[in-house]
Amino acid sequence: MLHIAGRPSVNEAGDALVSEPDGALVVDDAGRIAYSGPFSEVPPDLAAATVVDRRGCLLLPGFVDAHIHFPQVYTTDAHGGGTLLSWLDRCVFPAEARFADAGFAREAAREFCAARIAAGTTAAMVFGSAFPVAQDALFEETARTGLRMVSGRGVQTRGPASASPLITSEGDAERSCRAEIARWHCADDPGRPDRAMLQVALVPRFALSVTPETLGWMGELHRQHHASGVYFHTHLSENDAPGVGEIDSVLRDFGTSSYLDTYDGRFGPGGEVAGESLLGRRSILAHAVHCSDSELDRVAAARASIAHCPTSQLFLGSGTMPWKRMAARGITVALGSDVGAGDEWLVSRVANDCFKVHMSASADRVVPLEPAALLFSATLAGARALDMEDAFGNLDAGKDADFLVVDPSAWPPLSRSIDAASGPAALAFAVMMALREPAIAEVFVRGRRVSVS
Ligand code: GUN
Ligand code: ZN
Repeated sequence: MLHIAGRPSVNEAGDALVSEPDGALVVDDAGRIAYSGPFSEVPPDLAAATVVDRRGCLLLPGFVDAHIHFPQVYTTDAHGGGTLLSWLDRCVFPAEARFADAGFAREAAREFCAARIAAGTTAAMVFGSAFPVAQDALFEETARTGLRMVSGRGVQTRGPASASPLITSEGDAERSCRAEIARWHCADDPGRPDRAMLQVALVPRFALSVTPETLGWMGELHRQHHASGVYFHTHLSENDAPGVGEIDSVLRDFGTSSYLDTYDGRFGPGGEVAGESLLGRRSILAHAVHCSDSELDRVAAARASIAHCPTSQLFLGSGTMPWKRMAARGITVALGSDVGAGDEWLVSRVANDCFKVHMSASADRVVPLEPAALLFSATLAGARALDMEDAFGNLDAGKDADFLVVDPSAWPPLSRSIDAASGPAALAFAVMMALREPAIAEVFVRGRRVSVS
């Protein structure tokens, strides 16, 4: 067994790293972890449990993907001819338009969930399709397979011609957000946002896809649903190409001096307060590569989280997220695959890129991330970002049994790396760097094996 126990900060993850060479996980009938520790110390009252012997394998917590796009399931490795905005225009908007077709969306939902299971991603913040019919297919398939998910339809009320199939009127956008919340938020466990497997987020694609009016009604909707735990999810400060890039375009269009203002109720002219803030502890902002110190201070004060997507940032040339500045403020940074700008579904593979990009940063920004910090970012940090740390994220007794059975013999490079590792930190590093999908033998959520069939 290998996991980050307790509730550490990222800088405390090393001390919280637990490696139990002959471990046992006892799962009760409700799918909760009744015991987690050495096999030899299973309490007598639990000793009658059926033993499933997985010696030779590793038990890890399920991975949490804090940012992944459902309607980009077929859009990894698309050559966009440039950075973010041209990639969206040439590749992504046309690809996402295909999700208007219910049959196509159902098949895509099947492949999306199958890819998540293969990668051991037991929980995810899923950036949704513009089309309610596709979102229904996604929620239905997620419920059928037994995965956890927070998702919301990607709202677009303005954009270039290529995005026109994805754009709706303000009225239709608001109605469909309300309908999605009514149908799917805590659908499996009404009134229990602390534990429900299916939950809903409000998801404006990014500031360039919405109007001040959209941000106005969305802030109001968010306020109305605050107590019921509806999330907020979007992109922030990803591309800083001068003049024509994402950030300059946002500042120009909104007349504000800060990108974050648009999500923080300050979307009036010159950054005036014009509505409710969308920031809170159930807000996850993807990327945040180019934020100012004062923007990061506001993210920290709101207790919002960052989905760090290094694989995607390499692909789109977006730059390197400022790890030290995030950690100094205690901001929760979880990993996101950002499929399809990211072409890796496996969150540990994203952690592998995370290690490399921060090693390769300019001299004053280099961070040799500890192995435990990588495991933390791929698991417990994601549960914290989803505000569900009490329910899952590690193998502590009392949590839901969301775990992976990893069989190193199915992937010889992993097996070799593990054999060469001495000590818990080296083992964690071997797993985070060398794990690949073939070694993920079984995936459990709340004690139940998830599968596509
Ligand atoms: N910004 C707005 N839309 C997108 C998207 O689909 N992917 C990424 N990486 N950034 C975005
Ligand atoms: Zn994204």
